[in-house]
Amino acid sequence: MTIVSIWCRHKGDNIIGAGLGLPWKIPSDTRRFRNLTQGKIMVMGGRTYSGMPQKVLMGRKVIVLDNSNTIEVFDAENHIVCNDIANLADYPENLYVSGGAGVYSMFFNTPSIMPDVVVDCVYGGAISESAKDLIDVNKSVAILEQKYMPLPQRFMLDEVETTVWLKKGEFVDQAVVKEILNYLETEG
Ligand SMILES: NC(=O)c1ccc[n+]([C@@H]2O[C@H](COP(=O)([O-])OP(=O)(O)OC[C@H]3O[C@@H](n4cnc5c(N)ncnc54)[C@H](OP(=O)(O)O)[C@@H]3O)[C@@H](O)[C@H]2O)c1
Repeated sequence: MTIVSIWCRHKGDNIIGAGLGLPWKIPSDTRRFRNLTQGKIMVMGGRTYSGMPQKVLMGRKVIVLDNSNTIEVFDAENHIVCNDIANLADYPENLYVSGGAGVYSMFFNTPSIMPDVVVDCVYGGAISESAKDLIDVNKSVAILEQKYMPLPQRFMLDEVETTVWLKKGEFVDQAVVKEILNYLETEG
């Protein structure tokens, strides 16, 4: 099993969210996220799940992490709730960790499920002035910089620079990496 983590963070302060939403509108970034996770099993936190438009997740396989047992899935055929992240350690298929900050932190801090590959999108533009309740991934970025190595390729689109990082000292499935790089090379 390969675990891929994908996020878009703001340059400098590593902000990824405001309340339940995003503090920016970048259609090409939304498209990248959608295309890289298309046909994959996404893992996301209850807050991220609740804040996403239903039509974005309809028909996609999603594992929703929730401790509170308050989340009701809106696509019972494709979405399941998991309240013990340890159950994902031996998952039989690749997982695409899709946020938010609490979930990234759980994955980066749990050795058995640390992501193998990180798709690190960094937005250098301005954050919406009205954004409130900002959420950052500072602690996860510190682990990224310490325990991962960046591939040399850089992909720039609409003020978002994307770098793919691989976990140091681990065998990483090259087919997964190739698929991501192929997408990034041809997008835009
Ligand atoms: N820019 C990006 O790339 C991006 C991507 C995704 C999301 N976001 C943003 O991130 C923000 C949401 O992040 P967040 O940190 O507030 O919430 P979150 O990560 O979406 O949700 C955290 C969830 O994890 C659950 N949880 C905690 N420990 C657990 C465990 N051991 N096992 C199973 N579940 C567990 C929590 O349940 P309990 O509350 O019951 O403990 C909670 O539902 C939003 O602003 C969203 O827009 C940004």
